[in-house]
Amino acid sequence: MSKDTLTITDNRTGEVYEVPIHYPTYPKYAAYIDAAAIRQIQVSDDDFGLLTYDPGYGNTASCKSSVAFVDGDKGILNYRGYGITDLATNCTFLEVAYLLLNGELPTESEMGDWRETVRMHTLLHENFKEMLKGFHYNAHPMGMLVGIVGALGTFYPNSKACFDEEVRCRHIMRIIAKIPTIAAYCYRHTRGLPYVEPDNSLTYSGNFLRMMFKHPGVKYEVDPAIVRALMVLFILHADHEQNCSTSVMRSVGSSLSDPYSSVAGAATALYGVRHGGANEAVIRMLTEIGTKDRIPEFIEGVKSGEKGRLMGFGHRVYKNFDPRATIIKNMASEVFEATGVNPLLEIALELERIALEDEYFISRKLYPNVDFYSGIIYQSIGFPTDMFPVLFAIGRAAGWLSQWQEMLNDPDFRIVRPRQAYIGYDKRDFVPMSERKPSGTEPACQGESSDD
Ligand code: SDX
Repeated sequence: MSKDTLTITDNRTGEVYEVPIHYPTYPKYAAYIDAAAIRQIQVSDDDFGLLTYDPGYGNTASCKSSVAFVDGDKGILNYRGYGITDLATNCTFLEVAYLLLNGELPTESEMGDWRETVRMHTLLHENFKEMLKGFHYNAHPMGMLVGIVGALGTFYPNSKACFDEEVRCRHIMRIIAKIPTIAAYCYRHTRGLPYVEPDNSLTYSGNFLRMMFKHPGVKYEVDPAIVRALMVLFILHADHEQNCSTSVMRSVGSSLSDPYSSVAGAATALYGVRHGGANEAVIRMLTEIGTKDRIPEFIEGVKSGEKGRLMGFGHRVYKNFDPRATIIKNMASEVFEATGVNPLLEIALELERIALEDEYFISRKLYPNVDFYSGIIYQSIGFPTDMFPVLFAIGRAAGWLSQWQEMLNDPDFRIVRPRQAYIGYDKRDFVPMSERKPSGTEPACQGESSDD
């Protein structure tokens, strides 16, 4: 009769341990054991016990969550049980944000209340226009967004009351409402353009496009095809389990920092080229390749390591197609009807075709991810490449806040504090400076020597 336990024999001592196997409600495949259960495996009473070593947490469940579910082998992404294709086809972004935050799709009246509440909080305090002046004209908008979102928390000192549900919901809504305004203002600052105040008669995406691209003295007409495409992109980027930036959101939030500081921290992680910065890097890569005939040479450069990684390819979880990449690729033609075809698409399609036939990528199960095609669409709409991670952050803010809220409501909630496998020196005797000799190794970071 099988039992839901592991029997572990410590061959150092002959001791046998029985460790329970736990199953989440769904899916069965992600069964787990409590890491704390193996701390009991000791060789003596004063032995610390066993830890698990898992760099990048590639096989560690950091939490229990019901917000999003990814099956990397089957290329499945669900938000609160609903398939990403159904949501991208039938919902608005605010509808999906409501689903992620509340666990259920809103009724008509719930959606009306939610939309109106968000609309009433899109405005930014005038001081932020002064604050933006402090940034250099060519500051990266993602770096500006990180600074402004973090600073926003100083305007709401009561937002540290993370366990007060009413306060928490008000600030969640404020962040979702204001992040497009912040994003647009950061862009306008880099172009020396006047800020465009939110127009609450427009949709979430339409309002953002107008704040981004309206020129003084010219009426801005939102193009429904572009609005729809941007809304779908926000939906596709809204959440993705415990990715790097969401893990930072949970980690910073676990110290009971305010949600603005936690979102700023998460955005800092998303800024990295291996995470949310990849869509910007894809465009730079496609531009560098330039023409289809130079793709084979570039691919060889990636395989040799000379060209770095094929940006927009590979994923920690998806070992099959990222369903989001498929949706974005299929949506490209609708956008190009409104904007004209982006010449980089042809290079991207050929690069994908060649890579998917190459053993290096096949053996490593490297497929296009969400970032491979999104940048081509963003660029065609008129966004500069340095705005791409900012666009990712607008969508993902809903996921970060949903995961943060779920963490605060989790009975297992505790401050994040992982352990380590210590590989440094054992205790050493102190050496006065006068007796120290050069270590013989290059110092990792050394002050500039006097003759520099
Ligand atoms: C996002 O986690 C999420 O959910 C993220 C995200 C989300 O919605 O939040 O989906 C968004 O971040 C998408 C990923 C965007 N990043 C990129 O496109 C950058 C390029 N991709 C890689 O850097 C990489 O694939 C990662 C970071 C995405 C995943 O890295 P892993 O899982 O840690 O894989 P790895 O670094 O251990 O690589 C395994 C092997 C290595 O080769 P070997 O050492 O075995 O020889 O695959 C190689 C890597 O060198 N490899 C690549 C590659 N990605 C991995 N080789 C060439 N090109 C690539 N893109």
